[in-house]
Amino acid sequence: MIYPILKHSHMMFALLSISFFLIRAYFSFSKPELLKIKAIKIAPHIIDTLLLIMAISLIFVLGVGLQTWIIAKIVALVFYIGFATIVIKQFGSITIRILACVMALLSFSYIVSVAITKQALWFI
Ligand code: HEM
Repeated sequence: MIYPILKHSHMMFALLSISFFLIRAYFSFSKPELLKIKAIKIAPHIIDTLLLIMAISLIFVLGVGLQTWIIAKIVALVFYIGFATIVIKQFGSITIRILACVMALLSFSYIVSVAITKQALWFI
């Protein structure tokens, strides 16, 4: 059965994605020179691409189509990547980067909550 393999791979890449983000956020605040290491630069792109490939495959395997909760996850993913980019590329002041870091973590938490509840607005 392909479904459990895809779902667990998807979840594993999600875990890798947030782990790499936390490592790079730590480096961006305390050891920015380490952000220049090629593997640290490239790995998150590969992980995020695989995360998305697994997600799209899941949509096909489940035949769920673009339901509201899936669109919410895609939009929140764009926010997560955007906020993460502000932190990692060191855009703006330290306050902006701390705020962006919090927002990236909130976006990620929202994605996980939507994944579990399958509801975009589970909190209302
Ligand atoms: C950082 C981004 C993401 C995270 C952390 C994440 C997390 C998760 C988790 C934890 C599950 C398992 C939920 C469960 O059934 O208990 C899941 C399932 C799933 N995700 Fe994601 N996801 C992300 C991005 C996406 C995106 C962008 C899409 C759509 C394009 C997507 C589509 C799906 C689908 C279709 C499932 C299967 C749901 C089911 O088994 O019924 N995910 N995701």
